[in-house]
Amino acid sequence: MAPKNILVTGGAGYIGSHTVLQLLQEGFRVVALDNLDNSSFIAIKRAAELAGDAEKNLSFQKVDLRDKEALSKVFDTIKFDAVIHFAGLKAVGESVQKPLLYYNNNLVGTITLLEVMNAHGCKNLVFSSSATVYGWPKQVPCTEEFPLSAANPYGRTKLIIEEMCRDIQKSDSEWKIILLRYFNPIGAHPSGYIGEDPRGIPNNLMPFIQQVAVGRKAELMVFGNDYNTKDGTGVRDYIHVVDLADGHISALEKLFSDQNIGCEVYNLGTGKGTSVLEMVSAFEKASGKSIPLVMCTRRPGDAEIVYASTDKADRELKWRAKHGIEEMCRDQWNWASKNPWGYGFPESES
Ligand code: NAD
Ligand code: UD1
Repeated sequence: MAPKNILVTGGAGYIGSHTVLQLLQEGFRVVALDNLDNSSFIAIKRAAELAGDAEKNLSFQKVDLRDKEALSKVFDTIKFDAVIHFAGLKAVGESVQKPLLYYNNNLVGTITLLEVMNAHGCKNLVFSSSATVYGWPKQVPCTEEFPLSAANPYGRTKLIIEEMCRDIQKSDSEWKIILLRYFNPIGAHPSGYIGEDPRGIPNNLMPFIQQVAVGRKAELMVFGNDYNTKDGTGVRDYIHVVDLADGHISALEKLFSDQNIGCEVYNLGTGKGTSVLEMVSAFEKASGKSIPLVMCTRRPGDAEIVYASTDKADRELKWRAKHGIEEMCRDQWNWASKNPWGYGFPESES
């Protein structure tokens, strides 16, 4: 059978680049599309190198999703079997400051993509949603049926896109859509050659720990140690980015094999909760570095405990995360120590 063609929007990004590599290794033909707003072309080059011979099955398009003409041209040249849609802005704080930027980029970008897919008869989609849609869950683990809410414009874009997908699929049963709700992706490819390289000051826990470990930041602020948790700090479900990338391969297999999938949603997490202090201690062990801490007040909008029920993905996608916290920290440190400035250089630090 001829290899299937997959378009990966946001393919140069953190999760995108790991997924591109895995797709190539699984024998897919991949077009990675990105405007490089929050990423570097170096990530694509390195994913291609890691893919060895399969590198020939990868091409890159520097396109903004909102540029309908440019996007249509990409679809004119290749008949895609499916699209994995990662492209979007993801900084929660920035989304509160600049909601229009987020609504424009994430919503207009996705609407344009869906229109172009529709016009070209490509109706298979995997979309990156987020556990953020569970808000502050009343209980854990979070199952896919939990009530949804949005605490900020970023989260609202995820909710709106999920709803749009359900509406589109209802209106036209040829569409097959899988919404993946990621919990907290961390870690890097075990080669240490690709990883997360956030621009500016990181928002999330692991990139911040990493920057303290390599000496770019002096200390980690712990946002709240008065939660009702094992040690008072927030609990999350951290998942190795390679497991997450794997989940996309399973989602594609489901799309291609199940004629009646409709629009389905799956959590991608490990089902295990880890506190901030447990994560710091695991990272210290993996890196041999000490992470100075400053106890601070809670971060507005933060939930206390969030972790996934993984039963549905296990049952229906035949997918389960394989890596634990130790391996996540080991691979994060391997990437960080080999690339203390990410894909960039000290001069570009803001
Ligand atoms: P990332 O910023 O590393 O990757 C997103 C990529 O999309 C970037 O390379 C960026 O340049 C590109 N992009 C943004 N807007 C674009 C546009 N209009 N046109 C073309 N390219 C555009 O982020 P990531 O961590 O890899 O996240 C990927 C997806 O997963 C995002 O949709 C994000 O919201 C979602 N997600 C991420 C996390 C996380 O913690 N990383 C958690 C839940 C969900
Ligand atoms: C955050 C976002 C969420 C998004 C997710 C993945 C908020 C309110 N939520 O979630 O919408 O989907 O990232 O991108 O921003 N922590 C510290 N110090 C730090 C950073 C974090 O103590 O410097 C703590 C947090 O309080 C939390 C835990 O570490 O308890 C994890 O934080 P983070 O990595 O930002 O992820 P989420 O809070 O799950």
